[in-house]
Parts: sequence; structure tokens; C-alpha cells
Amino acid sequence: MENHTNSSLSQHVSTGLNALIYKDAGNTVEARLDDLLARMTLDEKIGQMTQVEKNSLTPEDVRQYAIGSVLSGGGGNPTRNTPADWAAMVSDYQQAAWQTRLGIPILYGVDAVHGHNNVFGATIFPHNIGLGAAGDPDLVERIGRATAIELAATGVNWNFAPTVAVPQDLRWGRIYEGFAQDPQLVAELGVAYIRGLQGDRLTDPLSVLANPKHYLADGAAEWGTSRMRFPIPPDYDYPGENGMFAFTIDQGNTQIDEETLREVHLYPYKAALEAGAQIVMASFSSWQGKKLHGHHYLLTEVLKGELGFAGFIISDWAGMDQLDADYSKAVVLAVNAGVDMCMVPWDFRRFIAAMKQAVEKGDVSLQRVDDAVRRILRVKLMAGIFERPLPQASWLEWVGSLAHRSLAREAVARSLVLLKNEAQTLPLSKSTPTILVGGQAANDIGLQCGGWTIEWLGKPGPITVGDTLLDSLKTAVSRSSRVVFDPTGVFENLEISQAEVGIAVIAEPPYAEGFGDREDLTLPEEDVAMLERMRTRCQRLVVVLYSGRPLVLTGQLPLIDALVAAWLPGSEGRGIADVLFGDQPFTGKLRYAWPRELGQARIPISGAPLFEIGFGLA
Ligand code: BGC
Ligand code: BGC
Repeated sequence: MENHTNSSLSQHVSTGLNALIYKDAGNTVEARLDDLLARMTLDEKIGQMTQVEKNSLTPEDVRQYAIGSVLSGGGGNPTRNTPADWAAMVSDYQQAAWQTRLGIPILYGVDAVHGHNNVFGATIFPHNIGLGAAGDPDLVERIGRATAIELAATGVNWNFAPTVAVPQDLRWGRIYEGFAQDPQLVAELGVAYIRGLQGDRLTDPLSVLANPKHYLADGAAEWGTSRMRFPIPPDYDYPGENGMFAFTIDQGNTQIDEETLREVHLYPYKAALEAGAQIVMASFSSWQGKKLHGHHYLLTEVLKGELGFAGFIISDWAGMDQLDADYSKAVVLAVNAGVDMCMVPWDFRRFIAAMKQAVEKGDVSLQRVDDAVRRILRVKLMAGIFERPLPQASWLEWVGSLAHRSLAREAVARSLVLLKNEAQTLPLSKSTPTILVGGQAANDIGLQCGGWTIEWLGKPGPITVGDTLLDSLKTAVSRSSRVVFDPTGVFENLEISQAEVGIAVIAEPPYAEGFGDREDLTLPEEDVAMLERMRTRCQRLVVVLYSGRPLVLTGQLPLIDALVAAWLPGSEGRGIADVLFGDQPFTGKLRYAWPRELGQARIPISGAPLFEIGFGLA
């Protein structure tokens, strides 16, 4: 890795003998801040307020415009998606920032929402819904730490995580990004994740800045209130009109009163700030009809004022653009409401021009600009980003390391919820003569991982490295047993009419954000047909479900002897095999009530659920 050396670092850190005050880590953060701010031009200040997606700018642009931050959106991967190429890509931007007049380093942000999930070969942990089911802060903290280490190995110092939403509707496409429907558990696990990610000291080169999101009450948006229409990316066959997919909940409106807003949705943020979170992302959604990106009361008065948040607020992906059809007005509204750094996916020159004009016209005051820049630089200084070297090439071994994979395997095992177990079907014996495995999902790492894996929306197929459940079952059984796989569940060439055991694996197709807003949570016909076929070919039928949320399968329950909710487990399918064969116990519990019928999607659900919250057989 040529441009991956630290040769320019010493030069960057201490210019000359009498280092400038802001460059000397021996001074206090506030003294360094005062010194640095006093040296900055308006252009440099606006640069710091700008975060640009890497596909829309070059390292040379970072240098020229003194850009404050770069991000990779979901799937914002280098051409060759390897850990080494990631490190080189991030380092190129960082070195360009070092070469600016003041040498202010960038923050590089990604969505590592279940491990460093854009990177081919990284460890993919269960999505948060699974970690919620496991319900163990210590486990979540260790996952946060492992994720930080994989991020740091590639030079990434900011993670757009954890999601501390308190989801209120099973039809919401982001429900799996949340831990639970109980704010207390969300707060507890969110805090654990932040601790793990940030580590003991923010200045540690292996510390990564956490970013609770999406402020505020993204999880409470109501069905039918979203006006977002999103172009369907090529290669995906979501239903749409004129190539556009209609979101229904995500980015919509929440109508709850202020007391509920505070008790349920603000609660995890208070905990996150106490745990040391320095960055908060504004939500696309609205509260009582007013978009959060323009919400002065909630952003500035409540978060920064009342809660004393001294860090900075980042807008979401082109989120401020939604405030007004006139882009310049939208920028003014967002920044005046309290957004400090703007996530600009595409045309950053337009943003910079709009900001500059706004300041010159007096629409945004210099005080507001200084406050925003102070907040951003305070975080950079506190986190020791000015002193941070580029990652060492040897750190790349940590990406997808054995230690992290075994942690993920443990997390998978602990996230599984056993919903039904007739006649002690589980655990299975490793010497079961024949185990039939049906369903494409049994042998598909993409389906096992779900959305936010390699691509924004995820993708079926061998998209990254890991053990599928099929691989894992084959490895686990004794020599005398055989595992027979047929994605269709037909088992045409099987010489026996019935095997002792069948395992049907069913998966929701991968999705992210509003692409997962879905009214019909029942199983598709093909899956039901597969279950029915398998039922005839085995004495005991086990169903393993990969899904971002509870699905309605009341009608299928009588066909099933043992039912396992596996959520979106990630790359380590061996964690499922461990539990199916009894090497590990079932310990996961439902953190959402499981609906009996479609009308029960809204939380708290009305009427009797199929399985109560807290349920989970041992
Ligand atoms: C990006 C994601 C982003 C999404 C947002 C996608 O094109 O890859 O990172 O979250 O757009 O709306
Ligand atoms: C999502 C955020 C994410 C951002 C960057 C947005 O579309 O709402 O959660 O952090 O994209 O990828």
C-alpha cells in the first residue's frame, strides 16, 4: 500500500518547532478550538460543515475545498471491494485533508450497522433486532468494539450507528435496525454499543465515533404518511410505478404528543449522550407535520439546550433538501434549525455556494456558522483525529478475523428465539441419519445477512464471505449422517419417502429503509408451498426464519414441529447450527409481540398476539 504510509503525518502534526496552539495536543481542547477558529476563513468554515459522498468528490476536491467529512453511503465501496482498497481509499482522502492550509483532518463516516458491512470479507453480525432478542449489553458492547476495530483498520473514524429508534410498527422497513420496542432496552443496548465503539478513550486510534440516529421518533412514523418516492435501483425488482418505489412509513410523520415523544423516543438519546455520544443524526421524518431537519425546538432547544449536547448534528442523506423546493432556502432552514454538518450525497459545490450566499445575505449568521464549526472541530479535537496516524497495514488482518467471527457466531446463537418445539424436536441429534434442508435461504449468505450488506439494499447470493446454515449443518453432523439440500424442497431423487428431519429455511428478501415498508407480512405462496412439500418428506419439520421482523405465519404453524426466529443473523451460520444441535442453549426472547394476524402490525398490538413479548422457549 504505497500511499498508506505515515510519512506526512509528523509534518502534519507539528509544523515547525513552535507548534501552533491548535496543533499541540498538550493544550486544552477549548484553547485549541479558539486558536483554530480564529485562523479560519469563511470558506474553510463552510468546508468543515460539508460532508460529501465519496462517489461525488475526489481527494483533490477535499484539498481544494477543505471539506470536513467524507462518507460512503450504503454500498459506497471502492472499485475493488477489499479491506486494503478501503484503507487506501479512506487514506487518500485523509492525506488530502492534511494538505489543506490548516491541515484539518476529515471524519470518514459509514453505516457499519451490523459490522463493517460494506466491506467484502468483514464480519457481519446479526442486525440489531437479533441483538435485542439476545438482550445482553455485554455482548453488544463486545460487538461494538469488534466493529470499531474493523472500521479503524480501514481508517474509518465515524460510524452512523447505533440506531436507537423505538419502532412502533412491524410494517416499517427499518424495524430490524432497532433493538426493541421497549425504550429502556433500546437505551441499554444503545449505550453498550456506544461504549464498545468508542472504547475507553476517544483519542485511542481504535476508537470510532458513535452516532445515535435518527433524531427524533423515526420509529413512530405512521403508515401512509410518507411522501417519499425513491428510484428503484437497477437489478432490484421492487414493485413500482415509472421506476419509483413508494415508501409508506419511512420518512413519514409521527403525530404523538410531546410527553410520549420525550418518555419513549427522547429517552434513549439522553442515555446515549450520557454515554459520550458526540454526533447525532437528524431524522428524515416529521413530528406533528414538521420535518426534524428544520425543527429548531427539537434540535436546538431540546437537544443542544436542555440536554446540553456539545457535539454536532449531522443531517441525513440529502435530508435538508426536503425542507423547501428552493435549495438555498432549504439549506438556510436546516442550518438555522441547528444542523451543523450537512450530508451532501451529490453536488457539494451547490451546497457550498448556497451556504456562502446565505451568510453573505445574512440569512445565516456568522455566529451560527462559528457555533457549528466549533462543534465539529471540538469533536475532531476531542477524538484526537488531528493526531491520528493512518491505519497500519497489519491491522487489516482484523477485518473478518477469526476472533470476530467467533463473537458473531456467539451472537447468532444467543439471538435465536424458539417459538415452538413439539415433542422436543429440538435439539437435533448430530447422528440423525438424514436431514433434509429446503429453501434457497439455507445456502445463501446474502439472504442470511439482509439489507445493509455490501449493497445498501443487500442482495441474495454469495455477496460476501461466511458460513451459510447449510455449510454449518454439514460441518456439524456426524460421519454417519447426511444432509441433503434442495432449494425447492422437492427432493426428487431421494430414495426414502420420509427423512427423520427436515429443516426449511425461509427468508424475507433483503431490503433497507422504506424499501422494506410492507403491508402484507404473511409468507409468500412459494414459501408456503415449500413448507407443505417438505412436510410430506420428513417426520419432523423444523422451520428457521430469516426476517427483519415477526411475520404472520399462524396458518402454517400446525405444519411446523419446531419454529426458530433467527432474524437477520449475518455471516456466521454456525451459530444457528450450534443451537439446533444443542451445543448451545436457546436463550433469545421476543422483544416485539408476534402478531397472529395482519391487523396487528401497529405497536402495541391490539388483541392477543400469537406469541407474547418476552416469549422464547428454552
Ligand atoms: C445510498 C444509501 C443511502 C440511500 C438513501 C442510497 O443510494 O447508498 O447510503 O442511505 O441512498 O436515501
Ligand atoms: C439513512 C441513514 C444513513 C445515511 C447514510 C440515509 O439514507 O437514513 O441511516 O446513515 O443514509 O448512508
